[in-house]
Amino acid sequence: MPGSQGPLGAAGCGGSSGSSGDLILSFGPDDTGTLPKLIDQFNKQSKNVKVKQRTMPSDTGQYFDKIRTQFQAGGGDIDIIIGDVIWPAQFAANGWVTDLSDRFKDTDAFLPGPMQAATYKGKVYAVPWYTDAGLLYYRKDLLEKSGYSNPPETWGELIEMADKVKQDAGIKNGFVYQGKEYEGGVCNGCEYIWTNGGNILDPKDSSKVIIDSPGSVAGMTTWRDTITKGASPQAVLQYVEDESAASFLNGEAVFIRNWPYMFALAGTSEYPKVEPDQLGIAPIPVDKPGDPSYSTLGGWNFLINASSDKQDQAWEFIKWMTAPEQLITNAKLGSKLPVRTDLYDEPAVLNNMPVAKLGKEAIIKNSRPRPVSPYYSDVSLELAAQFNSMLSGDISPEKAVKTLQKNLQQIVNQGEKAAG
Ligand code: GLC
Repeated sequence: MPGSQGPLGAAGCGGSSGSSGDLILSFGPDDTGTLPKLIDQFNKQSKNVKVKQRTMPSDTGQYFDKIRTQFQAGGGDIDIIIGDVIWPAQFAANGWVTDLSDRFKDTDAFLPGPMQAATYKGKVYAVPWYTDAGLLYYRKDLLEKSGYSNPPETWGELIEMADKVKQDAGIKNGFVYQGKEYEGGVCNGCEYIWTNGGNILDPKDSSKVIIDSPGSVAGMTTWRDTITKGASPQAVLQYVEDESAASFLNGEAVFIRNWPYMFALAGTSEYPKVEPDQLGIAPIPVDKPGDPSYSTLGGWNFLINASSDKQDQAWEFIKWMTAPEQLITNAKLGSKLPVRTDLYDEPAVLNNMPVAKLGKEAIIKNSRPRPVSPYYSDVSLELAAQFNSMLSGDISPEKAVKTLQKNLQQIVNQGEKAAG
């Protein structure tokens, strides 16, 4: 819930700053309750410093706006920011967060995708905490009943199968996802563009917009087809993670694109209708058989406010939180995928998180960061607007791509000019 208090806030700090010696840590509400538990554990064993959570909005865009306002007003009192993987470049370019390159030595032990997102101009500004990757979940039981032994490999197959299985099973929806005008919609749109061979910014030169390509148009066309060809309901235009998960876990949909966390909700008292063993997980579909699959890299990192006077204490906490033991706790209790590569061979993680086993390939091999740019927040707002307007049928895929080429290049050029 935007602005709601987590258990720690309710217990005493009330969302405002703690006593002078405390480290203030910002993050959205953790529904699983794992972060407050970990903070508690740290506080019990820490002699030098105690940590208090400041609870931020759960919508990543709203959280970003709040943090940016504080930075622009001189830094604010938050010492450690748990931030989205899309933030480090922008925070670093503005000098708002500390360069951690000298402290963060074991970068090789972390997954390459999250590390790429934590790095800006060769320097490391964030320590990955957990990773996310877009996954295709499907109802194994329903596919089998309709005579399919495998999940779809291509988008075309997905649309066809979604429609048939939906009718055979007599359920409302074929394929649901996050189509609203917000960051999650951008994550979905990127996957259609990438799996059709397009891209947004040139990975070698982030000042160059390259979205106007046949691959991007094909990706957008396929995305719109999910609705026009009957696989997806109009309602997806308004869906964020929660609504799409509710439709799927209430047994109303055959397929869903969502993050790994959703696996942990299947069969719980909130969603008793769909059990984990009815679920299959597959990579995000591609354009043609054999094409590489791409899934949007999500996840959250630790960053230190450059104006904090508690740099050493902040580092001590981050080091503790990202040690293997704490990452395993977060995986077991919070269903959050660990960022240390060797934990994917760790039975304690795999046995408790089938999604880590099933999603390993998508997580390690296929995930790709959204455009890494100091102007990402504006780039994203523009992507979200054009994607949603294309998906609703207001503009054509060609028009969306052409408009994005022009408007994104303008955003980047203006940013470069202002930066001198
Ligand atoms: C998840 C991802 C994050 C992404 C967000 C979009 O929280 O971890 O990277 O921006 O979803 O809604």
